[in-house]
Amino acid sequence: MFVGEGPGAEEDASGLAFVGKAGQLLTKILSSGDIDRESAFIANVVKCRPPENRTPLPEEMMACGDWLEAQLLLLCPKIIVCLGSVAAKWILKTTEGITSLRGRWFDWRGIQVFAMFHPSYLLRNDSRSKGSPKDLTWHDVQELKKRLDSTR
Ligand code: URA
Ligand code: URA
Repeated sequence: MFVGEGPGAEEDASGLAFVGKAGQLLTKILSSGDIDRESAFIANVVKCRPPENRTPLPEEMMACGDWLEAQLLLLCPKIIVCLGSVAAKWILKTTEGITSLRGRWFDWRGIQVFAMFHPSYLLRNDSRSKGSPKDLTWHDVQELKKRLDSTR
């Protein structure tokens, strides 16, 4: 299960998570790791689009928190992947930034948690040179696939 930040305009209009530009990149990232997007559930921390796509406020995340928690508990995914800083901080209850969290494994109530950069961040940082966000993400998706295959 992937957890993003919140719906953008296209997600708000369609009611589906990650269907816009960031979502198309997410699909590509997953297929580069041989992960079928259809095998995953995709959700967001907040369930309504924040005005002008601003970062959700703490009280907005609090208001939506029970919904996300219910989704996680009902679906009980093999792995939770936090996409970006907002999801990682919310799920892991940390103030650490995504640059230090990404590529690492954590635990949420007995479920393995992984963190990756948000696809929107990659859209704004297009370099593929060694150590760039895209390069690191390519490594992260390989790591994710490896763990997915070795988890029952
Ligand atoms: N960005 C997100 O965090 N979630 C979406 O659903 C789309 C874009
Ligand atoms: N609703 C979501 O939030 N994600 C899915 O993958 C399907 C429905």
